[in-house]
Amino acid sequence: MNLLVTVPTYNEAENIELFLKKLLEYIPPGAHILVIDDNSPDGTAAIVEKMMVNQNDRLHILRRPGKQGLAQAYLAAFEWGMERDYGIFLEMDADFSHNPEYIPQMLVQIAAYDVVIGSRNIKGGAVEGWSFMRNLISKGGSLYSRIILGCPVKDLTGGFNMWRRDALEKINLPSIISKGYSFQIEMKYKSYLAGCRIKEIPIIFPDRKLGKSKMSKKILLEALLNIWKIRKGKKQNTGFEQLIKFAITGGLGTVTNLVIFFLLADLAKLPEIPVSIGCFLVAVTQNYIINHLWSFRKSLKGEKLSLKRWGMFTAGSLMGLAINIAVMQLMLTYFTLPYKAIAQGAGIAAGMVINFFISKYAVFNKK
Ligand code: GDD
Ligand code: MN
Repeated sequence: MNLLVTVPTYNEAENIELFLKKLLEYIPPGAHILVIDDNSPDGTAAIVEKMMVNQNDRLHILRRPGKQGLAQAYLAAFEWGMERDYGIFLEMDADFSHNPEYIPQMLVQIAAYDVVIGSRNIKGGAVEGWSFMRNLISKGGSLYSRIILGCPVKDLTGGFNMWRRDALEKINLPSIISKGYSFQIEMKYKSYLAGCRIKEIPIIFPDRKLGKSKMSKKILLEALLNIWKIRKGKKQNTGFEQLIKFAITGGLGTVTNLVIFFLLADLAKLPEIPVSIGCFLVAVTQNYIINHLWSFRKSLKGEKLSLKRWGMFTAGSLMGLAINIAVMQLMLTYFTLPYKAIAQGAGIAAGMVINFFISKYAVFNKK
């Protein structure tokens, strides 16, 4: 099996002995543990070294001169393990937030997958004892990274992960840019891009009872900003980026549309349906130009504006317009509104969603 459990520690003197005892109970007899200690001032390393005496070769320590962050600790651990030919690597915190009882399940899954993630964000998984804020930060961080990176993993930030050696080889560890907590996100994202088979299993993650978390506002901010750097390696536009640009373009078109609609329908009292159609034609042309030159520029690879694509975009937008008018009419019929333009605004929003998909997959899609 040759499993190596890697446990980074910084000031875990209160946890480490009991934690290692429990860990030793749940790993296969041939598996080894490597503690990576950054010269903890509380003497964590000395406790580990004392335990090593009775563990002939099951327990190892890598002592580093000073606090260099989670990423450096894990990278050093992987290098240590690669040199010694371990086949499976497990990342784990020393503070009991990652329960060793899950390890047998993870080992079952790693037979069929390249990466097994202990996940708090899938059905059956949860965090216990975190404040509302900390929970929000963690969940928000996972969702934020997931959207920006376009990566389907639900628990991107978690640190309880099992790796096959070849998955780590595919990631190209020296290319990792993270220093702190975005390390976990970057690892998972890179393994996803490399085509690894990833499995999430639900875990309950209790907050630590003893010692302090090393997470700080500074570390968090670094992690959030790092996501953009991590993403830079990717060449293709993400669908999310296109959607944002498409929505901004639609927003500009909506302003144009609403201004003309307000002038003609509310002030000039012209009938709203013909006015809505006129507004549509003006806005659609503006939207086509901006979407072509900006939102979907990368998909079109330098192609010039064309009447044909304008025609397709207009046709696609007619679908949106049908929904636009239906929603507007329904609202005018069933609600008393101070301005008719409010109903038109709701109609535009509904039409835009349909429009995005037609644009992305039919109009601005260069084969
Ligand atoms: N060697 C070393 N160097 N170890 C460190 C360092 C460091 O600079 N910083 C933290 N550690 C160790 C801690 O001693 C602990 O064993 C583990 O790494 C996790 O640190 P915590 O401070 O307990 O992290 P947390 O509970 O706030 O964060 C956990 O959840 C995050 C996402 O919600 C961890 O699992 C993170 O990996 C995870 O990103
Ligand atoms: Mn912790």
